[in-house]
Amino acid sequence: MTAPTTAAPARGRTHPGWWQEAVIYQVYPRSFADADGDGCGDLAGIRSRLGYLRDLGVDALWISPFYTSPQADGGYDVADYRAVDPVYGSVADADGLIADAHALGLRVVVDVVPNHCSDQHPWFHQALREGPGSPLRERFHFRPGRGADGTAPPNDWISLFGGPAWTRTTDPDGTPGEWYLHLFAPQQPDLNWDSPAVQDEFRSILRFWLDLGVDGFRVDVAHGLVKAPGLPDLGHREQLALLAEKRVPYFDQDGVHEIYRSWRTVLEEYPGQRIAVAEAWTDTLDRTARYVRPGELHQAFNFKFLNASWDADQLRELVALSLDAMRAVDAPTTWTLSNHDVVRHATRYADGDPARGVRRARAAALLMLALPGSAYLYQGEELGLPEVTDLPDEVRQDPSFLRPDGGNGLRDGCRVPLPWSGTEAPYGFGPVPGGPAWLPQPAAWAALSVEAQAGDPRSVLELYRSALSVRRSHPALGAGRAVEWLDLGPGVLAFRRDSAEGALICTVNTSGRPVPVDGSALGVLLLCSAEPPSAVAAGAAGGGAGFLLPADSTAWWQAP
Ligand code: GLC
Repeated sequence: MTAPTTAAPARGRTHPGWWQEAVIYQVYPRSFADADGDGCGDLAGIRSRLGYLRDLGVDALWISPFYTSPQADGGYDVADYRAVDPVYGSVADADGLIADAHALGLRVVVDVVPNHCSDQHPWFHQALREGPGSPLRERFHFRPGRGADGTAPPNDWISLFGGPAWTRTTDPDGTPGEWYLHLFAPQQPDLNWDSPAVQDEFRSILRFWLDLGVDGFRVDVAHGLVKAPGLPDLGHREQLALLAEKRVPYFDQDGVHEIYRSWRTVLEEYPGQRIAVAEAWTDTLDRTARYVRPGELHQAFNFKFLNASWDADQLRELVALSLDAMRAVDAPTTWTLSNHDVVRHATRYADGDPARGVRRARAAALLMLALPGSAYLYQGEELGLPEVTDLPDEVRQDPSFLRPDGGNGLRDGCRVPLPWSGTEAPYGFGPVPGGPAWLPQPAAWAALSVEAQAGDPRSVLELYRSALSVRRSHPALGAGRAVEWLDLGPGVLAFRRDSAEGALICTVNTSGRPVPVDGSALGVLLLCSAEPPSAVAAGAAGGGAGFLLPADSTAWWQAP
């Protein structure tokens, strides 16, 4: 066990809790760095790159699952919650990684996957072996089928990866048996959170990793644990489309909150501000805020912001709604643009033009990092990586893609291994030029490697480094609950953040053309995602002399 970090906050000001303003970098371990050369990233690889993350200027890492798993869903199908999959290393490697990170002043957040386990988990094996009526089946959702002979699933729920959310089992005597529920792949049976054994087991799993020194947890599918009593039919065929607008009987049920209150008690038993962040897809931000009420989790991902279009009005509305919703429960807002489940934002924002995508991605990063609260970065966004959209079918591993009745299942495109250096694949991802990588990297990524970008002031990497450095030192950035909106005209989002030691103004031009703005209130330029705004003559921007904000750009100004 290592002691949790007590590293002082970077800024000199009073610090309400490290997570309130932390920049947390998501590591998808399979694709980050491969130390042993098997084509798959590992914990030793992450360990070897911690200096890079410290120099980038983030406060913490969130590492996606590295537990023992058959990898039916990239490790989100856990067979042993207290062991590291041999592909990634060992618990000793995890221990060493946490110690090294703490020594560098970086915190470590790990994933916990409580909604479902792997069908290779000993509990599921036991439940199948014991047969219907066994108390060991109560840890899952087993039900008889409907219709004569029970050949129809117990209800009409659809799996998020496509097809029915139920799979029929075979009884120990070889006859067709009960069905079990899996909101995701059939290899991911849902756990039954009414079972005291499940509740106890997860409190114990949290303690296992807390004892090892982790600083917190990202809670996978935090909104899914409790299902409506009786598992009622939905009566709707388009269930996936429904998720964004309406509560369904398997998501965001009120009962989940009791679980998180009990988890908070566990977290509070430990010194050093251990936290949890919810992956909770809800229909409204007010529902998201319920996960971070006092006594529950510390943060929840803000997926509304992630899903917003590149449009000043929409962004302003979402930022305001987010801040209002979280202020009501006195929790910090989080901001994120990408993760391992969505199309990378450099491609999402491109609208068919990759250069525009990168311009907007640079601008979006500066917007996100200027907002009050905590920001989550996804590995590779600091290199401006695009989505890889042309992976051959035979290399794809997203379970949704592999299911015959699956959805589009294109999540592999954001999981392609990172380019670190060199001109030959795997570009330093693995130790040997020409060596393997579990997904092929585009040839164009040689120019996007860390090595290729480092030191180039025009690169995305150096923009992130500068932004994170200003964010650390500027008294008006980081934690906070509000912004003051400024009106600089159509197509421009602008706000001011004040502190006793200085104020910062952020201007975002989401329009595809330069926009003249009145410069009198802006002050001195600190950083811009594009070429610095040029001065324009008095009159062009209304009253006094002004600036021409470049198309699709964000600028930070030291306010007068
Ligand atoms: C979460 C994970 C995703 C995974 C799913 C099922 O949404 O982010 O990658 O497939 O849960 O565990």
